[in-house]
Amino acid sequence: MANDPTAKTLAELGAADAAAVVRLFGEVHEQFVRETSIAPDLQSWEELRNAWLGRKSGALTRITENWLKTASPALRPTVGKCLNELRAQVEARLGELQQAIEAGAEASAMARDRVDLSLPGVQRPVGSRHLIRQTFADIERIFLSLGFTVVEGNEIETPYYNFEALNIPEHHPARDTMDTFYLETPPGAPQWLLRTHTSPMQVHTMQAKQPPVRIIVPGKVYRRDNPDATHSYMFHQVEGLAVDTDITFCDFKGTVEYFVREFLGPKVKTRLRPSYFPFTEPSVEVDATCVFCGGKGCNVCKQSGWIELFGAGMVDPAVYGFVHYDAKKFSGFAFGLGVERLTQLKYNINDLQLYFQNDVRFLRQFA
Ligand code: PHE
Repeated sequence: MANDPTAKTLAELGAADAAAVVRLFGEVHEQFVRETSIAPDLQSWEELRNAWLGRKSGALTRITENWLKTASPALRPTVGKCLNELRAQVEARLGELQQAIEAGAEASAMARDRVDLSLPGVQRPVGSRHLIRQTFADIERIFLSLGFTVVEGNEIETPYYNFEALNIPEHHPARDTMDTFYLETPPGAPQWLLRTHTSPMQVHTMQAKQPPVRIIVPGKVYRRDNPDATHSYMFHQVEGLAVDTDITFCDFKGTVEYFVREFLGPKVKTRLRPSYFPFTEPSVEVDATCVFCGGKGCNVCKQSGWIELFGAGMVDPAVYGFVHYDAKKFSGFAFGLGVERLTQLKYNINDLQLYFQNDVRFLRQFA
C-alpha cells in the first residue's frame, strides 16, 4: 500500500482526537473492502490473509504496534475498540472468501467426476446353470431326501478300481464294452486310466468305511466312443450305493421306483428287466413307460411303450470280498444313472451333442 497509514503513528498522521481515529480506521476498512472485492483464488486469498492478519507483518499487527501502543491514554480506548471491530470484519470477510473457494473447488470436482446416469451401462448377460448341472441337482435333491449323501471321486483311476475290484478280471469280456482311455506312463510304471464309469467309487467308499453306506456319486466318465446323437467320449453318471445289514431287493425296487416317479413324474411306471453286470447279482435294467407316448407305443420307444433308463442290481458278494465286508452280514444295491439320457427323456432332447456344443440358443431354452 503506497503511503500506508498503518506504517505511521497517530501523531505522525495528525490524528489528535477520537473522530480522527474513527476516520482513519474507516479509511483502512475501505482499503480492505477494495482489496477483497474480487473473488480470490486460493493463492491470492493466502496473500490477502498474510497482508491483513499475518502475525509479523500484517496490517492489524502494524496498527497494534504503531497506533495502539503509541496512542495517548485518552485515545487508547477508541483505538482499541476500532481495532477490535476492524479485526472482526477482516476475519469475517476472509472466512467468507475461504468458504467460497472451498465450495468452488468442490463444485468443479463434482463437475469433473460427474457420472452420466443416462448413458447405457456395460451389459453383462446373466448366466444360468447348464442343463446337465440342473439334472445333477434334481437327482441329488431326490436322493438326499432319502438319506443318501453326495461324494465325489477322481476321474483318473487305476485298472484295479475301475475293473478288478468290481469283479471284472483282466480278460473278462465285460471290459470290451468299455473301450478305455489309458494314460501314457513310462514302461513298467503302474497303469492309469480315465474312469469308464463312476462305479470305482463304490469300492473306494466301502474300503474307507463299514456299513451303513448310502451314497451317490455324480461325475464325469470317459469311453472311447465316436461322437454321434447317442454317444460321446465324455458323459456324466450318478452312481448309487446302499449297503446295510437288512437291505433287500424290495428296498432296491422301492428306491428305484420312488426316484423315477420323482424325476419323470407321478404317471410314469417302472419295470425291471434281467441284465448282467459283473459287480451286481441279480442285475437289472430299469425301464420306464415311454414319456413321449405314455406307454402306447411310438417311434422313440420303437412301439414297445418302454424306455431303458439305467443299469442296477444287488451288490455282488464277490465285490464285498475286495473291500473286506462280511458278505454273510451285509447286503445292498447299486445303480448307475446316465445323466444325459435322463435329461434327454425329461426335456425331449434328440441329440446328445447338444449338451456339449455350448450353443446359447440351445442352453437359453433351459435357463
Ligand atoms: N457302471 C455301470 C455302467 O456304467 C452301471 C451300473 C452301476 C450297473 C451300478 C449296476 C450297478 O454301465
